[in-house]
Amino acid sequence: MADIAHCRSDFPALQQDVNGHPLVFLDSAASSQQPAAVIDAVARYQREDHANVHRGVHTLSHRATELYEGARDKLCHLVNAASRSEIILTSGTTESINLVAQSYCRPLLGPGDQILISWLEHHSNIVPWQLVCEQTGADLIVAPINDRGEIELDKMQALMTDRVKLLGVGHVSNALGTVNPLRDIITSAKKLGITVLVDGAQGVPHMNVDVQALGCDFYAFSGHKMFGPTGTGVLWGREKLLEEMPPYKGGGDMILEVSFENTVFNELPYKFEAGTPNIAGTIGFGAAVDYLQSVGMQNISEHEQALHRYMVAKLAAVDGVRLIGTAREQASVQSFMLNDIHPHDLGTLLDHQGVAVRTGHHCAMPVMQRFGLPGTTRASLALYNNTDDIDRLIAALEKARQVFA
Ligand code: ALA
Repeated sequence: MADIAHCRSDFPALQQDVNGHPLVFLDSAASSQQPAAVIDAVARYQREDHANVHRGVHTLSHRATELYEGARDKLCHLVNAASRSEIILTSGTTESINLVAQSYCRPLLGPGDQILISWLEHHSNIVPWQLVCEQTGADLIVAPINDRGEIELDKMQALMTDRVKLLGVGHVSNALGTVNPLRDIITSAKKLGITVLVDGAQGVPHMNVDVQALGCDFYAFSGHKMFGPTGTGVLWGREKLLEEMPPYKGGGDMILEVSFENTVFNELPYKFEAGTPNIAGTIGFGAAVDYLQSVGMQNISEHEQALHRYMVAKLAAVDGVRLIGTAREQASVQSFMLNDIHPHDLGTLLDHQGVAVRTGHHCAMPVMQRFGLPGTTRASLALYNNTDDIDRLIAALEKARQVFA
């Protein structure tokens, strides 16, 4: 296991007791905690540099713009985008996917066209496509998953035809932790000229992502799942596609010239960034990228992989635990049931012992339907977790089992 134990002390929220117990935070897939470096970067900006970006000739506006655009550069390098013009700053993965649905798909699709997704997707990678299908008369089609929670690749490939205009697929399933075989999926889609969007909300925080090497067309991710503030995110897209897409939001900053007769849109990436953006959050997002890179993505991946194996082995040994999601490749997330205890009851009991997990459908209701469950209990890991956290989870589960016996 990579030695990154020292990182835990960087996170102020983890240094507290909850319900009389030291906090064990196993809900980072929903939203990760922030290191002091991120909190301080936001506070420093708020105290010293706050002004609007791209609009002022005064010093504070210059400083704010420099910090904000500096964050874009960091994000560009993080995912190896070919150009900073390809990094659209959004409020998160959800907005990024809606942007593609409305700006890329809506002008393109018509009756008879299809959007292909998998059964594993988060609601953010389902509902925006349903909306645009409704608007255009196109159809949403869905590739099945097997009992381990893996996409059935051959069935997905069979659904890829020239009717499919966009394929939307997650990098890592937020509900089951499945790491999808992106290279195979993207290679097959590209043979047919299908545009591919990857929902990377659960990918970027846990592994090296190189959008050029992946070969997809759009990659979406969020700041708050990678130690940054909420309300921040990225849509990476190929410049050529972004150039051709109309904006779906109008307002200040996304224009070069406005008259009542005509509006000339701004260049990329600003064309898609109408209105005053989340400046403070984006500066914090940039600080989160610095933090991730200072720890090292490879170290983070190795640490989390080892911890995940430890967690799975320990969970599997608890009498009455049923693992939900047993994909051959998994990252950072494990869903499970304990006997027939409702996940919300179990989550509440764990919370009483200072252990934070997520319970319910995890914004992935079709996944729950596939397994015939109302929801699961989900423990999710980040770089600051350790084997003591897992041992505390297991002890809390043993106690819960006795309470419900
Ligand atoms: N998408 C977030 C989760 O998986 C909210 O919990």
